[in-house]
Amino acid sequence: MSFTEKANRVLRFLKGKKRHKTAAVILAAGLGTRMKGTEGQTKQLLTLNGKPLFMHAVQSFDASPYIDELVLVVRREEYREVRRILKGYRLKKPLRLTVGGDTRQASARRGLEAISDDMEYIAVHDAARCLITPDMIADVVTAAHANRAASAGSPVTDTIKQVTKDGYVEKTIDRSTLFRAQTPQVFECNLYRAATYAALDRKQTVTDDNMLVELIGQTVKMVDCGSENIKVTTKEDLTLARIILRMREEK
Ligand code: CTP
Ligand code: MG
Repeated sequence: MSFTEKANRVLRFLKGKKRHKTAAVILAAGLGTRMKGTEGQTKQLLTLNGKPLFMHAVQSFDASPYIDELVLVVRREEYREVRRILKGYRLKKPLRLTVGGDTRQASARRGLEAISDDMEYIAVHDAARCLITPDMIADVVTAAHANRAASAGSPVTDTIKQVTKDGYVEKTIDRSTLFRAQTPQVFECNLYRAATYAALDRKQTVTDDNMLVELIGQTVKMVDCGSENIKVTTKEDLTLARIILRMREEK
């Protein structure tokens, strides 16, 4: 990053900081069923470079000057264990621990309910995206300030085919318009609250938080966060995460 870019970021931060209080809701209440071979341990508690996976995201949000408070959403069964782990780390921001629900959507709702009343923006993040950096958080939060809603993502690099149910290629989709959605996804609190309760009323299920606000007609600004912000889903992803962390250390 050039000096000018850095200076602009600091200026944006100074401007933004005064106006928008932002809570980070970190979702770590899943079962990690696709992470095979780690019986008895959900993926958020697996060790990555000497600390539990969920701590990586917690520390990145804690280090971000754009974030004012942290809400960590965990499984009821892991609440005490997580609380014990947290005692071993010194965090700069207040962290509230809360219990999640049966689905990611329900856990995000619990997170929303746990943030402080004076928060203006909410950044919803999957703890499984443990390689998130403060720079990426800054990019998405500032885009949300300008657009009410913004999402981390990365442009699709593969050629994408639409296929029939029995697996025959029907057509090639123009990939220049395609992004993979990542987290954090950052929204103005009132917008996100309205979208969450509208979906609840209509019993709509969504696979990410962008969809919630899309469903009430809000456009979401997509922010390219590159290919390192992976979601750890399988054991192979955990290996990849270790490699990316090693590369960062070497840099
Ligand atoms: N999550 C959550 N509450 C749930 C389900 C998921 O907080 N009821 C969180 C996970 O902890 C994870 C993120 O949402 O950080 C994304 O979910 P995913 O990667 O699917 O994780 P799991 O649901 O734990 O894994 P799996 O689907 O393989 O069981
Ligand atoms: Mg899941």
